[in-house]
Amino acid sequence: MSEIFRNYIGGKWVESVSGLTFARNNPATGEIVGTFTKSTPADVDAAVTAANAAFKSWRLYPAPKRGELLFKAANLLQERKEQIAREMTEEMGKVISEARGDVQEAIDMAYYVAGEGRRLYGQTTPSELQHKFNMSVRKPFGVAGIITPWNFPMAIPSWKILPALVSGNTVVFKPATFTPRMAVRFVEVLEEAGIPAGVVNLVLGGGSDVGNAIIEHPDVPLISFTGSTETCTEVATRGARLNKRVALEMGGKNAVIVMDDADLDLATDGILWSAFGTSGQRCTAASRVVAHGSVRRELVERLVERAGGMRLGYGLDESIDVGPVVSDGQLSTINEYVQIGKREGAVVAIGGDIARGGELARGHYHQPTILDDVQPGMRVAQEEIFGPVTSVIPVSSLDEAIDVVNGVKYGLSASIFTRDINRAFRAMQDIYTGILYVNAGTTGAEIHLPFGGTKATGNGHREAGTAAFDFFTEWQSIYVDYSGRLQRAQIDNQ
Ligand code: UN1
Repeated sequence: MSEIFRNYIGGKWVESVSGLTFARNNPATGEIVGTFTKSTPADVDAAVTAANAAFKSWRLYPAPKRGELLFKAANLLQERKEQIAREMTEEMGKVISEARGDVQEAIDMAYYVAGEGRRLYGQTTPSELQHKFNMSVRKPFGVAGIITPWNFPMAIPSWKILPALVSGNTVVFKPATFTPRMAVRFVEVLEEAGIPAGVVNLVLGGGSDVGNAIIEHPDVPLISFTGSTETCTEVATRGARLNKRVALEMGGKNAVIVMDDADLDLATDGILWSAFGTSGQRCTAASRVVAHGSVRRELVERLVERAGGMRLGYGLDESIDVGPVVSDGQLSTINEYVQIGKREGAVVAIGGDIARGGELARGHYHQPTILDDVQPGMRVAQEEIFGPVTSVIPVSSLDEAIDVVNGVKYGLSASIFTRDINRAFRAMQDIYTGILYVNAGTTGAEIHLPFGGTKATGNGHREAGTAAFDFFTEWQSIYVDYSGRLQRAQIDNQ
């Protein structure tokens, strides 16, 4: 029997007490990628116990030194980038160039956070009183529960785990069951970089056994979770009852505006990249194109021509543009949405079906699909599809375009293609998303700015950038009185 990938608890690779396993299959070929230990709440409890014990010393380990260990992790990720990227394509299907990008995002985050170990700035302020010193410092919470999705299996764990660690928290990490091998690779890197035993713990398994146990555990005060809006709302509700701090990263229904003065070649490139990259399985994917009436026809023609030339297949082949989607269930959901769109009156400009020809029959592939003539209220224009499907919505003015962009429950990313600086600034001012692009698609966020969205996309927190530290630390305001006498605040300063 082949190797079983195991949990990492208290610095040791161990099997679950359940003795059970689960398998993951390559979504392009159906071949087994690996067999993984299937954990239970008892494993979570062991991981939390280890993380809690390790917190006692990790919180006192100087932050610049924590950063140095993460710098080593960055170097190791860099060395292993190609191997990890190949394994990512095998495990979740994204094409190899994008898998390299995913690993690169983790490398970027590791270098960034390593440097933050020397900053983690607080504030010093004057005091209202003489001979008194005021400052604020960031302090870690304790054990952070980190629950991650499969679509960015290196980048997203890095966004959560690395800022948590440099701030002095310890971690219990549960990855999606579609990408457990990537999580093992990530933790191997941290182990080899010298992160002490118990500081990072990995528990493999499903949401109902492992995820729930982390969320409910009394010794996990902090939960960072990326997933569907329904699941996240449930997590938020339960977290609130237990008075936990919970950061949620949920869905998106991101739109690209194409104005009548846009560079249509550029807009075509931007739309195809952000609608069909990662087979549309990004929270930031462009699933709506809000096109000015006077350029819509020409834009759709260009999109159709280019989408028709995109090659579907196994993403390890460098010439492939669009890989499989993650699972058979996801494939059915995507195709159901296309059928819903047709019933609602959308016109299938290209694609529209599951792709089964030849080698594709072994995996879960959906044709890149463009729905035209979509009205803003249709379900395909309102709900997240998470697949290679985008809907073209005609509008006749910038005001109308902005209303359409804002007229969904989500607020993650948006973009505008225009050559008019005034229109670009109007869009920046009036579009209410967490991320906005001018003359680019809706994807491609960099790790040193806040990542996250408004409305049903999140619950007010942001990942990445220094914003991440607002989540992973508590403020402590410290007043040092060196006057040698009692100075009453707000009274003795008169
Ligand atoms: C996601 O889909 O959840 O901006 C993350 C982007 C990537 C991250 C996407 N850097 O598209």
